[in-house]
Amino acid sequence: MTDRYAVIGNPIAHSKSPLIHAAFARETGEDLSYGRILGSLAGFEDEARGFFADGGRGLNVTVPFKERAWALVDARSPRAETAGSVNTLIPVPEGGLRGDNTDGVGLVRDLVANQGFRFVGSRVLLLGAGGAARGVLRPLLETGLAELVIANRTASKALDLAGSAAGLGPVLGCGLAELELIAGGGFDLILNATSAGLGGTVPTLPEACVRPDGWVYDLFYGDEPTPFCRWGDRRGAARVLDGLGMLVEQAAESFWLWRGHRPSTAPVIEMLRRLG
Ligand code: ATR
Repeated sequence: MTDRYAVIGNPIAHSKSPLIHAAFARETGEDLSYGRILGSLAGFEDEARGFFADGGRGLNVTVPFKERAWALVDARSPRAETAGSVNTLIPVPEGGLRGDNTDGVGLVRDLVANQGFRFVGSRVLLLGAGGAARGVLRPLLETGLAELVIANRTASKALDLAGSAAGLGPVLGCGLAELELIAGGGFDLILNATSAGLGGTVPTLPEACVRPDGWVYDLFYGDEPTPFCRWGDRRGAARVLDGLGMLVEQAAESFWLWRGHRPSTAPVIEMLRRLG
């Protein structure tokens, strides 16, 4: 019998996950279907539990339910624990649900395996201190980077987030305004995890942050280059990347957690790039 999977979110019509998982299933020969569920703000928990009660084998969870999924599950991976959010629900054979978060590993794998970035010894700037930043924190701190600076418009949120992860690696929080003092010779990698791009803007950063050999990566993506990617291009960053690779890599990690097979991601990233 075909195993059923889905992504639940609100809105959900735009989600590329069904396309990605259908491509993974074709490639690996796994017999599964993967649909979209429009979750309701009032009933997300019942809808997610109901999916599994009806025999569903796995759910991806997206905006705005990732934090509620974290609260819903019976057990969590360490990276989901740190993230404070869950994007992958896995039924446990003995009963109950396990929650994982594959966003951070997706980001790191896209940078390292697909793009050849070297984290070891690097200085990395993470912009934003909301759910998107917190979601990728633990895998970033496990890369061997020399320093992770979390900078946020509201400084206190960056300080809190850095404080909560202090035991996991070399991390420091500050306000965007303080970056002038901290930037030093600039960063090897600047990650945008703010939602500024949704309003068509970019956080204001001191000149010194971008080095000529530095990379710029937007965790978000769009059919057009994102405002942050356009900013990176204008500032002459050595490499400018959007989050499409991360999207496919986080899906591949979910697929692996559910099916025990690791699909090839490069052809799927290429397909999505072509489709626009
Ligand atoms: P998400 O779950 O997408 O991270 P969020 O929790 O609302 O959403 O967090 C949004 C992040 O983007 C925050 O870090 C926010 O900064 P504040 O904490 O100061 O609000 C940041 N952000 C949003 N718009 C921004 C802008 N125009 N300039 C700089 N930072 C912005």
